Amino acid sequence: MLPPWLWPEALINQVAYPLRGMLRWRRRGYREVPADVAAVIAGHPRRERLTALVERYAPALQGRHNAGNVIENLDVLHLLDRLFELAPWTPPARLRALDVGAKNFYYVAALHAAWSSRAPVDSLVGVEVDAYRVYRDGYSRHDYADTYRAGLVGTTFVAADIRDYHEPADVITLLFPFVMPLPLVRWGLPIGLLAPEAVLAHVWQLLAPGGLLLIVNQDEMEAAKQIALCEQLGIVPCGRSILTDPIIDDRPPRHLLAAIKPIVAAD
Ligand SMILES: C[S@@+](CC[C@H](N)C(=O)[O-])C[C@H]1O[C@@H](n2cnc3c(N)ncnc32)[C@H](O)[C@@H]1O
Repeated sequence: MLPPWLWPEALINQVAYPLRGMLRWRRRGYREVPADVAAVIAGHPRRERLTALVERYAPALQGRHNAGNVIENLDVLHLLDRLFELAPWTPPARLRALDVGAKNFYYVAALHAAWSSRAPVDSLVGVEVDAYRVYRDGYSRHDYADTYRAGLVGTTFVAADIRDYHEPADVITLLFPFVMPLPLVRWGLPIGLLAPEAVLAHVWQLLAPGGLLLIVNQDEMEAAKQIALCEQLGIVPCGRSILTDPIIDDRPPRHLLAAIKPIVAAD
């Protein structure tokens, strides 16, 4: 149930979200003033951790991202690195990666670098249901995504509800999926899009046997709900932890979960 104070916002979303979907706003050519990655890292209080991440994964951040975005990518890389520690997972010879709810794919460089460290990446797809949300600068999420993924081989950004997307994947990330109504409404979506169980079931079905699912939730309540959803669907995590040392100071502890899809032996 939505609290009454959220009803006006929910009502606006009910109208504005389908309009964005109809308009499909694009304004090509989004650019950021690129930061000097080495200088950004040198000036950061967690410079040792950031240097270790860059040495290990070599993310393609130079010449593309502003300083804020460099740090955001390194924060996601930090998350992915910790997630990898949770899963005793052997990658296939080549990888098909999927990110669900990609927003504007601002972290595609981090994802690409992290997966490339495990196996050559054939494809890395970001699927986003609200891809035509427009920022104050007149560019849409789709425009941002196209700029962020330029030059990263195999990457695609798909404007779709994940439940309408049917390509299998070897690895799937869900970074902060909506499992509660409040954040979903605050992010401008109509309440009818809150379908965490259906989304998780669909994603699990897209995952190849032996594939790796990585989920990050933003607080304890969401993590508890996420676990309950996994239990309902028979998804058994191979590891869980709480990340308490974010790269960006104001980030609350984040809850990490990894699961490997069992390979069912043929009779
Ligand atoms: C909390 S945001 C997280 C965004 C991004 N993963 C990040 O870490 O910043 C959740 C995202 O999932 C998207 N989303 C929600 N339901 C979806 C669905 N059924 N299919 C695809 N994307 C969805 C939302 O529009 C939103 O961009």
